[in-house]
Amino acid sequence: MALCSIDVLVSQLATQPIIFIGGKGGVGKTTTAAALASYHANQGKKTLIVSTDPAHSLGDVFNTTLHHEKTAINPYLDALELNPEIIVNRHFAQVERTITGYANPDMMPKIREHLRLSKSAPGAQEAAMLESMCQHLVTAADAGYAHIIFDTAPTGHTLRLLVLPEMMGAWTDGLLAQQRRQAKLRSVATHLDSHEKDIINPFGKHQPDRWEQAVSVLEQRKVLFRQAGALLHDRTQTAIVLVMTADVLPLAETARAISQLEEAKLTPAAIVVNQLIKPTQTDPFWQQRADRQQQLMNDITHSFSNYPIYPVYLQQTDIRGTEALSKLFS
Ligand SMILES: Nc1ncnc2c1ncn2[C@@H]1O[C@H](COP(=O)(O)OP(=O)(O)O)[C@@H](O)[C@H]1O
Ligand SMILES: [Mg+2]
Repeated sequence: MALCSIDVLVSQLATQPIIFIGGKGGVGKTTTAAALASYHANQGKKTLIVSTDPAHSLGDVFNTTLHHEKTAINPYLDALELNPEIIVNRHFAQVERTITGYANPDMMPKIREHLRLSKSAPGAQEAAMLESMCQHLVTAADAGYAHIIFDTAPTGHTLRLLVLPEMMGAWTDGLLAQQRRQAKLRSVATHLDSHEKDIINPFGKHQPDRWEQAVSVLEQRKVLFRQAGALLHDRTQTAIVLVMTADVLPLAETARAISQLEEAKLTPAAIVVNQLIKPTQTDPFWQQRADRQQQLMNDITHSFSNYPIYPVYLQQTDIRGTEALSKLFS
């Protein structure tokens, strides 16, 4: 596929409710995501932009401070920066409340210590982030948004998040199967005498409540991941846009990202090559840079011939505020 003008990208994405912007650090993901969001909002389409990169800079681009909850940038544009720490703290506070309901009070200090350590376990924040992303993803349309745009962390992280709903779905299935096996054991246990019952069911009479609660949380999570996974794989719903610059490392990373996405049966909708300079320069240094970019552009169009490629030129200054952002694409 040949190079396309950037306004074609905007119309290509006009009918996509869910847009993911991914790519290497510093290539212009946040700028691209904010520009698309500003453009759609200017067209009178209600848009939500969600930053999932822990190194948030979305607020800076809009000249404002953003939070874990939505902030209105203008009547058609809401923005938020997901904070994994807040999500994890809320989750564990809920778990602690549940446990306090049935646990022996003497055990609570130990349990609290265990929960405190679990919060910083590897993957806890990632899982929390994923669940929150999925929640925004599946509820955006009902909340009245024509578009939800995710400004994501550098490629590796984004891909994991995109592929995780399936993994988490399988993991939840495993847990549910285990819960069902244990429930069967329990029903056998109720027919045994009290001594044997205590061996099989050491939590005693409170156990069934806990099981039911755990199963219901898992069931809800499973439904959420299944819905999110279905949306992510539906090309009429989700567009994945990879942003890169015409440099060797972003080219290599984009090639890896595409093959990982394809492995997960996800296809990028478009590739944006950002920060290009004009092919003819007066200064020899800049002429050399321009020539190098042209060479790399040839490699890029050759390597990614299956995808529409959109060049975006380097602007004189950083692009901040919805006015300037929406102009980037027009
Ligand atoms: N086309 C462009 N013209 C001028 N500056 C740009 C352009 N694209 C990005 N930038 C600047 O480059 C820096 C990195 O962009 P950013 O969107 O934050 O990248 P990422 O989110 O991929 O890390 C920012 O200072 C941004 O303003
Ligand atoms: Mg960014």
